[in-house]
Amino acid sequence: MKAVVPGSFDPFTRGHLDIVERAVGLFDQVVVAVGRNAAKDPLFSLEERVELARASCQHLDAVTVEPMSGLLVDFCRAHDLGTIVKGARQGLDFEVELGMAQMNASLAAVETVILPTRPNWSFVSSSLVRQIARAQGDVSPYVPAAVVDRLRRSRHVHSD
Ligand code: PNS
Repeated sequence: MKAVVPGSFDPFTRGHLDIVERAVGLFDQVVVAVGRNAAKDPLFSLEERVELARASCQHLDAVTVEPMSGLLVDFCRAHDLGTIVKGARQGLDFEVELGMAQMNASLAAVETVILPTRPNWSFVSSSLVRQIARAQGDVSPYVPAAVVDRLRRSRHVHSD
């Protein structure tokens, strides 16, 4: 069975990687779909976010990383994916994910599996990582090595 792990991944964190690795344990093939959350203004371009997710998942043979535009259910249809896997860190995440899962199930025949984030990553979010990087703090415990390098080199992270 194939599953999709969708997200905005701005940038990809070790929490995201943990969810992808656990999805690999549950499904034969996993597609990481890098998309746009209409409620968020991304720091990194779609191409950069795809590149960082690819670099972070390169050790996982069962994983491919693809850009996604438009609706997630259309991406699922186009790639023959019947299951969405998402991580949830705390109560608010579950509420948001539940609404999206129900909407996606209403739009198309897709199921959503919500994996509880492991406690060691439950406080890690892309937005906090961006904040730490902007203030030139150490993000290395929270993001894969490729993302650490990119954040260090990124001028736009340090521009405000
Ligand atoms: O990492 P995020 O911000 O939780 O990812 C959200 C994302 C990109 C998975 C979600 O916004 C999404 O699925 N966007 C594609 C457009 C879509 O299908 N919207 C309706 C979702 S019910």
